[in-house]
Amino acid sequence: MDLKAYLEKKRVQVEEALEVFMLQPEGLLAHHIDAMRYSLFAGGKRIRPILCLAVCEALHTDPEPYLRLACGFECIHTYSLIHDDLPAMDNDDLRRGKPTNHKVFGEAEAILAGDSLLTYAFELLSEPIVGNGLQPDDQLEIISLVARAIGPLGMVGGQSLDMKSEGHKISFETLRYLHSCKTGALITAAVQTGAILGKADDEQFAALTTYGKKIGLAFQIVDDLLNVEGSAEQLGKAVGSDEKLDKATYPSFFGVERTREMAKDAVDGAISSLINFDTQADPLRELARYIYYRKK
Ligand code: IPE
Ligand code: IPE
Ligand code: MG
Ligand code: MG
Repeated sequence: MDLKAYLEKKRVQVEEALEVFMLQPEGLLAHHIDAMRYSLFAGGKRIRPILCLAVCEALHTDPEPYLRLACGFECIHTYSLIHDDLPAMDNDDLRRGKPTNHKVFGEAEAILAGDSLLTYAFELLSEPIVGNGLQPDDQLEIISLVARAIGPLGMVGGQSLDMKSEGHKISFETLRYLHSCKTGALITAAVQTGAILGKADDEQFAALTTYGKKIGLAFQIVDDLLNVEGSAEQLGKAVGSDEKLDKATYPSFFGVERTREMAKDAVDGAISSLINFDTQADPLRELARYIYYRKK
């Protein structure tokens, strides 16, 4: 299959849906909504919503009615990036090829834009979906698993460990846990949401969860690698910053070569977990490979 064409088609679909579902900068809150929109529409690969849609397709389900839910993942992800870039955290000036949110809107508004994107995501996830057979219980399960994935025992907890680990020696187990939380948890939640929407049985749900966890870990390992080997021009964000901040990363633990092997192992494991899926899951297989080969 042609993954490039698939990703582009899906990215455009997500982009259009975000346009439909995001608030317009009008009235008294125009500035606040502009700040939300600035980072949301600054570009980005849209990998999390695309994964959610691709999992639906792997389960022979048309993802079209669920675009609004998929957009929720991009709002959550964008919020995490705005906060991650703040001076109190990674202190970055460039994101998605543009000045970071706080550079344009100031710190207070950047914090609030992040807060609103997070909260708005739950509006998108919780609005009733009518006329397509999705049960309220299923939607509740999705909301609940997303909340768990991005809270204290998930993404935010991972970010806390990341900050706490700066300048300190941590064990490999802690590093792997930190990566699985800060980046893996949201990616896994996007995959699991697709699984629920596609009415996966228990076995399929378990296999897709394994897939999500493995690509989620690989995604952050490759993010670490790109911070060492990538270019700011291609990535649209700074390189070399992990070393400067003495971050706990895979390359700082294992060096670049071994880190690449570990990312490859995680991706291979993810693909193996899809053994019982037919060719409808080929985009998921290709997406896993792409996570390893990506240059941005
Ligand atoms: C970057 O995520 C931050 C991590 C969680 C590793 P992406 O690489 O998905 O960033 P965008 O959305 O394409 O900008
Ligand atoms: C980002 O991790 C994780 C979240 C935003 C939750 P990083 O700090 O390693 O990602 P980049 O490299 O700034 O995109
Ligand atoms: Mg960070
Ligand atoms: Mg960062």
